[in-house]
Amino acid sequence: MASNALFVGLMSGTSIDSVDAVLILCSSSSIELRSTLEHPIPTDLRQSIADISQAGSNEIERMGVLDRQIGALFADACNALLRQAGVAPEAITAIGSHGQTIRHRPPSGGNPTAFTLQIGDPNTIAERTGITTIADFRRRDVAAGGEGAPLAPAFHAAAFARAGVNRAIVNIGGIANISLLAGETLLTGFDTGPGNTLLDHWISRHQGHRYDRHGSWSAQGQLQTALLERLQTHPYLACRGPRSTGKETFNTGWLDECLSQLPVYAPQDVQATLAAFTAQCITDSIVTSGLTVEEVYVCGGGAYNTDLMRRLHKQLAPAQLGSTAALGIAPEWVEGAAFAWLAWRTLSGLSGNASVVTGALGERLLGGIYPGSQPLLFR
Ligand SMILES: Nc1ncnc2c1ncn2[C@@H]1O[C@H](COP(=O)(O)OP(=O)(O)OP(=O)(O)O)[C@@H](O)[C@H]1O
Ligand SMILES: [Mg+2]
Repeated sequence: MASNALFVGLMSGTSIDSVDAVLILCSSSSIELRSTLEHPIPTDLRQSIADISQAGSNEIERMGVLDRQIGALFADACNALLRQAGVAPEAITAIGSHGQTIRHRPPSGGNPTAFTLQIGDPNTIAERTGITTIADFRRRDVAAGGEGAPLAPAFHAAAFARAGVNRAIVNIGGIANISLLAGETLLTGFDTGPGNTLLDHWISRHQGHRYDRHGSWSAQGQLQTALLERLQTHPYLACRGPRSTGKETFNTGWLDECLSQLPVYAPQDVQATLAAFTAQCITDSIVTSGLTVEEVYVCGGGAYNTDLMRRLHKQLAPAQLGSTAALGIAPEWVEGAAFAWLAWRTLSGLSGNASVVTGALGERLLGGIYPGSQPLLFR
């Protein structure tokens, strides 16, 4: 592989908001963002993904169809990105495709039958783009005893660590995760709990919006302490060591159960309390880590939630708070760039997981390789 090579990252997270497509130029010493594209997910497909993410009938049949459809959508996202960038598919070394998570049952909490499942057929991506595609990054880590998540911390360290400064990188997607960086060393990383998922569900139910733009609705509500305290009793928040979670754990069913034991609150007060809860889970994770964090950088769509950022700023002071834009990658492209970088790692013969984060037995080359139309070059 050339010392500088172009990779595409394709990502759709638990929010099912869009496919993020990111073109990067990668080498052993640098990661350079070249082009980015947000590719829409059609409404019916979004609904099918939400449906299959919960137990239901006829799952194998529905999953088979969706796997191909998501693969085709991811391929479309990549082709649109390359057209926009004016780059030919032959110039791309590989695609790193995260796929769409439809189940995440990690081993933490003593689950003996752990598994994680991302769909979006990589054969379809390779066929429709002609580009070698690396996919299924998480399951090798699970096979090695790890959580399979979060995988972004190794990338956060490569892209954002700075000698002599203690930093926390916080990704607020559907679920939120942090990476703690003591200078250039990745100390740990884990899912802190909900990111935007509860906020998205609550505003969708009461206002019909997909998300709380800039957190303007939550900013109008009053914090309800009894509800916050009830939410904080979730057993996941008391876990230590490698841990990851998903919408299987933090969802409207759980929220409704918490609310059913309390007085009826105004919907905007619930939204304000959910924002406070999300922020508190992140803050507690940083404060209890034992690392004196000086700088906190937020990525993921939550970085655009002004109310959430205000709460974090207040709770985390005197640490400085900003978004990863200050470090050269706008918040919405960090996860996509991470999966492009993971493809580069795999084709370079380098591990992708940080076992200190996932709890895997060791560091592993991640993903399966699905050849494109060019011959594969083995070193
Ligand atoms: N302007 C905004 N104001 C408030 N919230 C926003 C804004 N823009 C995006 N968001 C939130 O960010 C979410 C999408 O974030 P993101 O794409 O990082 O999540 P994701 O796809 O679940 O990613 P992942 O799970 O991989 O971290 C939206 O659902 C919404 O809640
Ligand atoms: Mg997203």
